[in-house]
Amino acid sequence: MIILGIETSCDETGVALYHLEQGLLGHLLYSQTATHALYGGVVPELASRDHIQKLLPMVAELLQQQQIASSEISHVAYTAGPGLIGALLVGASVARALAFGWQIPAIAIHHMEGHLLAPMLERPAPSFPFVALLVSGGHTQLVAVKGVGDYQILGESLDDAAGEAFDKTAKLLGLGYPGGPALARIAANGDSSAFHFPRPMVDRPGLDFSFSGLKTFTMTSWRATNQDATSQANIARAFEDAVVDTITIKCKRALKETGYRQLVLAGGVSANRHLQQTLRAVADQEGFDLFYPRQEFCTDNAAMIAHAAAYRLGDALRHHCFEVHPRWPLSQLQPAKDLPKHN
Ligand code: KG4
Ligand code: ZN
Repeated sequence: MIILGIETSCDETGVALYHLEQGLLGHLLYSQTATHALYGGVVPELASRDHIQKLLPMVAELLQQQQIASSEISHVAYTAGPGLIGALLVGASVARALAFGWQIPAIAIHHMEGHLLAPMLERPAPSFPFVALLVSGGHTQLVAVKGVGDYQILGESLDDAAGEAFDKTAKLLGLGYPGGPALARIAANGDSSAFHFPRPMVDRPGLDFSFSGLKTFTMTSWRATNQDATSQANIARAFEDAVVDTITIKCKRALKETGYRQLVLAGGVSANRHLQQTLRAVADQEGFDLFYPRQEFCTDNAAMIAHAAAYRLGDALRHHCFEVHPRWPLSQLQPAKDLPKHN
């Protein structure tokens, strides 16, 4: 069985082929960064139009590249939410049309479940139960994961998501879009003793986060400098240190509360090297196992969607009505109906 995965929830068009026994066969990703960079952020209508233009040619290219005939595909999986409604509708309607044409079932996938399970594309893979830290452009959550679809939200951001905080801070520092990776790049050259930012909410019990106050700190610190490249790097570093420290403290707390010994990082911000390295050091020190996907599967991609669908075959649908869910709490998912053994 081969699953075609489609991802179009935001500004990345992704297609992937996942074989139930052999694992990931291949994937393609097209980033719309250049389209949106002119506007300093994602323009939803442009994102939808770009997905329309790219998606079918990318499916054809991937099938050609992998020498797979459409008749060999057993399921089409697509991101049904959360995300931008127009962008989601493009992926969902193309996926459903392909499934209808090929007379095979389609599977609607939750984007954050795709991220959450992505570390299982790697070897060694985590095994249930584990604590997942989901950090993306729209989400910051600590989740106790007992199985596919068995998610207990332990804590989440009360305001800005971690990725959103990176993006907004980058903008304040004049770094443009996409901000997170740009900020991380210059933070690597910053002096961590030049500024000190607070670690929000670490002195309170619980596992919730709040990152929005760091923007004010960035703004006041930035205004007090001569706004040169050195102060830019130092402030970026102070911001990144504050986010990484806060996340580290909460992850340790979540592991302690659950008694689990595995921590999984997923979502765009898990691509952050400083975060990966800090948590790796803490994992070695405290004796828990740390998992995160390869860099290209931390951020949006279709490999994670096709892979998640391999656990969701029991949710495959043959009828042709579909919905997308721009807002879709992870906690609303039901446990997977069946768990076929796959690679
Ligand atoms: O998962 P993702 O690709 O899309 C969403 O589902 O939101 O995450 C995108 C977010 C953006 O906010 C981006 O700035 C952030 O992940 N991001 C990073 C890094 N790479 C991507 N943040 C910090 N450091 C990075 N290296
Ligand atoms: Zn994402």
